[in-house]
Amino acid sequence: MSTIKIGLFGLGTVGLGIYSIIGKARNTHAEISRICVRSLDKPRPAEVRSELLTDRPADILDDPEINLIIEVIDNADAAYRIVSEALRRGIAVVSGNKAMIARHLPELIELQRTHGGALLYDASSCGSIPVIRNLEEYYDNDLLLEVKGILNGSSNFILSRVFDHGEDYARALREAQELGFAEADPSFDIEGYDSLFKLVIITVHALGVYVSPDDVFTYGITTISSDDIRLAREKDMKIKLVAQVVKVADESFTMFVMPEFVAPSKYIYSVDNEYNGVVIRGECYDRQFMFGKGAGGFPTASSILSDVTARLHNYRYEYKKMGYLGRPAYTTDVELRVYIRFTPADTATVEALPFTRVRERYTSDTHSYVIADIPLRALIEAREQLRAPGIFLCNIPRFFLDRD
Ligand code: HSE
Repeated sequence: MSTIKIGLFGLGTVGLGIYSIIGKARNTHAEISRICVRSLDKPRPAEVRSELLTDRPADILDDPEINLIIEVIDNADAAYRIVSEALRRGIAVVSGNKAMIARHLPELIELQRTHGGALLYDASSCGSIPVIRNLEEYYDNDLLLEVKGILNGSSNFILSRVFDHGEDYARALREAQELGFAEADPSFDIEGYDSLFKLVIITVHALGVYVSPDDVFTYGITTISSDDIRLAREKDMKIKLVAQVVKVADESFTMFVMPEFVAPSKYIYSVDNEYNGVVIRGECYDRQFMFGKGAGGFPTASSILSDVTARLHNYRYEYKKMGYLGRPAYTTDVELRVYIRFTPADTATVEALPFTRVRERYTSDTHSYVIADIPLRALIEAREQLRAPGIFLCNIPRFFLDRD
């Protein structure tokens, strides 16, 4: 069996996890030959062999001995340049960069086809949970109805702290950063974009369809208040940040990222802290559930290691479903039921929304809320206004309620 010689880009939380576990993984027959970092002056843990470090990407890309690149840097543009150049040279790449992959996947697939390289990225979605390879290989049929779950560890950690420990939101966010769960820019986590990027990647492997992140409604937890939390508790619910892709007819599916009221009967109700949980629903088998650590250096590194080992056996994603006849089409022409809490100053914004049916209203001097049905398309059109600091939006699930 040949040895994999790795060029590693990035030595942050995940990079250090990889450095540590590749050294221990004897069956992987892999060794790290070179590590490219942004700054050679940054202090590193003692076990990092300083002679491996470089700040020149060419030292890896031009090294004929290196036959696999692992890319775990946090800058999506730089990651794109490295990964696309490696693929153009036919070199195999393992990446965890969900923002980069979600934005450039069609081109990255084309580069793999044209130049014969391979790009694996199970670590990009849900950390240690093997969701991509399972969707790609096992759920290779027409039965899939829905993939839905908690895809972001940091926001889930924050919501758990706030709900279960009564902790202050800002402190919980600081903790998520200190523990290495959060992105370099944590607004990606709490505004839902990290979940969105993972959902876009998951949808390619679930349904064989690429949807640009710009076309998907995404709403985070930034504006949640104690009023929302109190209401959820009164209704014996939790609020979780949920990403979902759902078949709404044989020929169409929808997708969005939004906080959601989650009842105790749901699998994801018990997914707390930095854990992720993914429910896969299909004809014939109803619901299946995958659960595991979604963030942090070692859980993510374990997924990278699995992709490295897969390359030892020449594994690549075939993207078979993208070639299927009769792939479902993305639609925003669906009706959702939402809870919208708002301050008196935001009343005009909320009243202007084209609700199809109002089901409940509450008004007090400090805040009001409405529970109403509304087309997803209308939420997309109003997304900027809905981001006002005094407004919080939360989904009330409607799909498959009769099937649980
Ligand atoms: N910031 C991400 C999260 C890291 O919190 O889930 C893992 O993708």
